[in-house]
Amino acid sequence: MELDPEAGQSLYLQLADALAGQIEAGTYRAGDRIPSVRKLREQFGVSLSTVLEACRVLEDRGLVQARAQSGHYVRAPRPRPRSEPEESASSSEAKHVDASLALRLNLGIGNPQEPTLGAAVQGPELMAVTALNRLMSHVLRHQPAACHSYDAPPGSAVLRRSIAQRGGDAGYSVSADDVVITSGAKEAVYLSIRAVTKAGDTVAIESPAYYALLEVLGSLGLRAFEIASHPRHGMNLDDLSRALESQPVAAVALVSNFSNPTGSCMTDAAKRRLVGILDRHDVPLVEDDVYGELVFEGPRPSAIKAFDTRGLVLYCSSYSKTVSPGLRVGWSIPGRYQNEVELLKLVVNQATAVAPQLALAAFLDSGGCDRHIRRVRRMYRDQMASTIDAVERFFPDATRLTRPQGGHVLWVQLPPAVDAMDLYGAAHTNGIRIAPGPMFSPSGGYRNFVRLNTGFPWSEKTERQIETLGRLVAERSG
Ligand SMILES: Cc1ncc(COP(=O)(O)O)c(C=O)c1O
Repeated sequence: MELDPEAGQSLYLQLADALAGQIEAGTYRAGDRIPSVRKLREQFGVSLSTVLEACRVLEDRGLVQARAQSGHYVRAPRPRPRSEPEESASSSEAKHVDASLALRLNLGIGNPQEPTLGAAVQGPELMAVTALNRLMSHVLRHQPAACHSYDAPPGSAVLRRSIAQRGGDAGYSVSADDVVITSGAKEAVYLSIRAVTKAGDTVAIESPAYYALLEVLGSLGLRAFEIASHPRHGMNLDDLSRALESQPVAAVALVSNFSNPTGSCMTDAAKRRLVGILDRHDVPLVEDDVYGELVFEGPRPSAIKAFDTRGLVLYCSSYSKTVSPGLRVGWSIPGRYQNEVELLKLVVNQATAVAPQLALAAFLDSGGCDRHIRRVRRMYRDQMASTIDAVERFFPDATRLTRPQGGHVLWVQLPPAVDAMDLYGAAHTNGIRIAPGPMFSPSGGYRNFVRLNTGFPWSEKTERQIETLGRLVAERSG
């Protein structure tokens, strides 16, 4: 067996695949020790880090288990992988949005030291705390006048330039003048939706949808038309086309990459086709791409913005998921709606705080941000793998779940008899937070679904929480 440095795949993945093949073929069986790191280095002529990375991949795939001072042992075969939820259904009419459920629930967002399966937040280990603290004090010391003065839309020129330069990674090409800095992606989405709608209008959304989008639609008196979505590929574009043909729709809104709550990611072909549909109907799209950079392996997926030639896409993102949610720095690239979004930003809160903008710009320009994102991608990948593994071990057989390739939310379909709101209550009593399915639909659907957050490093405590949840689900499965 030989590894090929010329092959498109990295050496550690080739090595992991080779060892996985041997485990599958029965060369190594449950309980056997695979060759030591030293032996593998010699046998394959690769570096220590290549072997260690390959072993980590095997651990993530649940094939081997590391034992301290002893080596890697083949694990007993996993339970059969669960199937994914089926594509959801489109609604038959646009509905008034009542997002008050989300506001009433406690998802455990308050305390970053306390891992939560509820809110889609990350642990401090996944934030660039030390580097940003240093850069914040640097900008406050060296640029006090700028940091303490009013800024104006579109925001800091240095940050907008860095953001524009990084657009190439997502496939779009813009200049600093096209970017409007906002206080997080939530504000970017809010301003974008406001810029293209008026009260009473209908917005076509994916189903299930990020609940904060529902809050925006509800607060602006907009109606939602839910479009069927696949848990892996996102919005059903045939259904969207039909909806746009059959009624007036003011805008479409979705999360293009590693959506919340399903983790779905649209293919490039679908992104291109969606832009064609928008062009034909002259309908704008509010694209939320906060998770695109958190792809687990390989290059970051494109933004829909990459295919937009007519300025119909209002692109929204932030550094909340990648770097720090507390800094509240996001941005919009509103295309032909630039003036409207800038004016709304001015009306709502004048400008985003200056010091976080300057600190982030320095972080981006130093290359520190790229290094940080490379590191956290691996952490998010491992956390997702551990969560999936635990759900498969502890939840009843009839459970289905998604397999996101990025981001940090997992969408779980429970056996039909389980009511997610009842489960939420029981979990709460046991000190466990979850996000129940009905939060993600204006029509209160997804009664037997929950979203689990995978944003914290895996711990014994999280494993126990998932075990308890599995028991609570089993008790309610009928
Ligand atoms: C899809 C999506 N968009 C936006 C946000 C919020 O982003 P920000 O904190 O930058 O406002 C979240 C946070 O959970 C999210 O999941």
